[in-house]
Amino acid sequence: MPPGRFDPVQVVAVLSLKGGVGKTTVVLGLAGAAMQRNLRTLVVDLDPQANATVALRPDPSDASIADVLDEPRMSTLRRAISLSAWSDDLSVLVGSEANERHNHPEPTAKQLNRLDRALSHFLAPEDAEPDDEDEYDLVIIDCPPSLGQLTRSALVAADRAVLVTDPTIFAVAGVQRAFEAVQSERVHNNPHLQPLGVLINRVRSRSSEHAFRITELRELFGPLVLNGFLPDRSAIQQAQGACVPIQHWDTPGAREASAVFDGLLGRVMRSASRRELDAS
Ligand SMILES: Nc1ncnc2c1ncn2[C@@H]1O[C@H](COP(=O)(O)OP(=O)(O)OP(=O)(O)O)[C@@H](O)[C@H]1O
Ligand SMILES: [Mg+2]
Repeated sequence: MPPGRFDPVQVVAVLSLKGGVGKTTVVLGLAGAAMQRNLRTLVVDLDPQANATVALRPDPSDASIADVLDEPRMSTLRRAISLSAWSDDLSVLVGSEANERHNHPEPTAKQLNRLDRALSHFLAPEDAEPDDEDEYDLVIIDCPPSLGQLTRSALVAADRAVLVTDPTIFAVAGVQRAFEAVQSERVHNNPHLQPLGVLINRVRSRSSEHAFRITELRELFGPLVLNGFLPDRSAIQQAQGACVPIQHWDTPGAREASAVFDGLLGRVMRSASRRELDAS
């Protein structure tokens, strides 16, 4: 099989138990890094807050992720996916407040599998052509701040999970529960799922409390704690406020953050996906 468009898609879910720790920031940072590497990328906005969708400024669409989860067909997907204003290589499966209806506390197996079923149209399309517009190199899923049905369905669909946390007293318990959620979906619904690691966000290098919490996380989770911390930088908020990629924001803080995202993307793309393993 020639390299290029037929390469297996890597599907990465970005999650945390807690709200506001930087999931959407990491999704946008990864999407921007992928754009710089000319990867064809789809951001799936599962979060009913739809923050990633707002930031990526997609063309108007007449359907959303909520419709896709109602009916995981190719025809619905096509209506719910729009090109981002950031790049012709970046598309968004647009988020919607209506997606709250798919966040049941006790989902059935069928409900949990719907996102995977929908995305499987892209993962091994039997009828794909080399220039097929539905082909992606990377799918990034932005999760809501809970471990309910939507986040669980992301874990059923994903190859890799990135856990985001801040360096606070609540981090250890939150990361532990997020790991348990990954482990549970791996055992019950998706044997291919692997945790890529824990990304610690909003790190202030002069904070002794942050240093203490980072040491604590490392002692407990070892090499799963990613070495590239994301620093607390106002450039991240400024770029998001302007709805542009951090990679286009020309300040020292933005360049620092961009380097972390590029390192994380490298790690995502280097880790073999289930499709590669299945093919070998
Ligand atoms: N490293 C950082 N430096 C400065 N500001 C940051 C950083 N990371 C995130 N923020 C800011 O923190 C706020 C919350 O971040 P974000 O929306 O990415 O979190 P989230 O986990 O997706 O939130 P939610 O759980 O509500 O979906 C945003 O205003 C974002 O710009
Ligand atoms: Mg978010």
